[in-house]
Amino acid sequence: MKKIDSFIRDIPDFPKPGINYKDITPLLQDPAALRETVARLMDLIGDIKIDKVVGVESRGFLLGAILAEKLNAGFVPVRKSGKLPYKTYAEVYDLEYGKDILEIHQDAIKKGESVLLHDDVLATGGTARTACNLIEKMGGKIVQCNFLIELSYLKGELKLKDYDVRSLIGY
Ligand code: PRP
Ligand code: MG
Repeated sequence: MKKIDSFIRDIPDFPKPGINYKDITPLLQDPAALRETVARLMDLIGDIKIDKVVGVESRGFLLGAILAEKLNAGFVPVRKSGKLPYKTYAEVYDLEYGKDILEIHQDAIKKGESVLLHDDVLATGGTARTACNLIEKMGGKIVQCNFLIELSYLKGELKLKDYDVRSLIGY
């Protein structure tokens, strides 16, 4: 099989000029590449006990839910403002491009639960940090921040210094 990173497509100037969008749809639509990616993410996670996988809307849902099933953990969506139907906790954050609000259901994580945060891309780290803040506000213990892709040149890891940050592919 071709290397996993060969299934990630660069889209220059999307969704705004100056942003080089990492398109993971070629990877998702290839059965062997998808299987290999999930297996490697599982290796990255290792043997730690995980109660909940938190995935961030929207691309963090895609592999996050698969990982949760494989880890025998529950899946929790962190969503953008106004999408979750039940009572939520919310936090404002800065994106690589723009501002938004992330929310989590108030009953999604119990105090003391071990949580794996998953997203497709770590860029400036604002999204992941905000999701971590929400998880910790609820008493969750973040055991790893797990990404498919890390854009190291944007230094997102600096916002996640308190955590074990792991990613499969770095740029
Ligand atoms: C992208 C990406 C990460 C986030 C990373 O999501 O999927 O979630 O940006 O950026 P940051 O580290 O600078 O915060 P986006 O908000 O574009 O939404 P999407 O997942 O719904 O496409
Ligand atoms: Mg996203």
